[in-house]
Amino acid sequence: MKFPYLQAIVENCPSVSLRNYESDYPFLEVVNHSASATIALHGAHLTSFTPKGAAPVIFTSDKAIFKEGKAIRGGIPICWPWFSGHPDNPSLPAHGIARNRFWTLISISESDNSTIIELTLPLSEDDHIMIGGKVTLMARITIASSLSIELTTSNESSNNIHIGGALHSYFFISDISSIKVEGLNNTTQYNSLTAETSINPNVLTFDSEFDSVFLKTSATTIIEDLKLNRSIVIEKSNSEATCVWNPWIDKSAGMADLEPNDYYSFICIEALNWRDDLRQLKPGESHTLSQHISLK
Ligand code: BG6
Repeated sequence: MKFPYLQAIVENCPSVSLRNYESDYPFLEVVNHSASATIALHGAHLTSFTPKGAAPVIFTSDKAIFKEGKAIRGGIPICWPWFSGHPDNPSLPAHGIARNRFWTLISISESDNSTIIELTLPLSEDDHIMIGGKVTLMARITIASSLSIELTTSNESSNNIHIGGALHSYFFISDISSIKVEGLNNTTQYNSLTAETSINPNVLTFDSEFDSVFLKTSATTIIEDLKLNRSIVIEKSNSEATCVWNPWIDKSAGMADLEPNDYYSFICIEALNWRDDLRQLKPGESHTLSQHISLK
């Protein structure tokens, strides 16, 4: 057993139980009066969130691979301390190191309607050198009728540090070709597929592969899903860029951890700190990137 300390934290928390505890890849399962959710210790990765009486809000592929060092396909990958490729060193993993490692559970606090889980990422001396100084990273996940995820980096070094990253959330939808994404119209769109930048005048709809970052925006995005008769409202803070991604048919077919038709059932809406929006932390400063996800 790799995580013997977990039992002692979880045993006094009626809303949380352990799954796969005997294995080397445990999950926390949360069931409270408002919602249920699953969080893998690997990546502090939320893999499901379902408010009571609702359809799932978060998508995870049935072909997701649960293995140390491999990011889970779906859920909310925590990308840190960079989003996409490393700005200077292409040999480092895409989307950073946090989604590929086990985190440590620090605490659980709960009431009837809400469960708050706090985790931290153990970092080595080499990690601190790569990042440019000593930092700590904490994730705080609140499971209630809505879902909050807060990622806090604290600079404990004596020099300035630059931090990027993303909350790379995969949302469960009825049908990619019938949803609309509101909130990003009239913002600057960097299309990662063409490397072109333009002003996007439109509410987003989807009929092919989509991979864009919307720049200089802190706007709330809304996924309007008429077939599920609901909207998913995605608020964020301390992020001035939003990535929207769907791999569509060909790219999905080429991915070992996605079913061929999975592209149909999710859209990623990601709160970023990227490029112009990297955050400088002075010694002693902290930065919290967050998403708050609710149904309307
Ligand atoms: C998105 C990127 O954020 O993540 C895409 O914009 C990328 O370009 C996607 O393909 C998935 O990345 P990964 O590393 O999880 O396969």
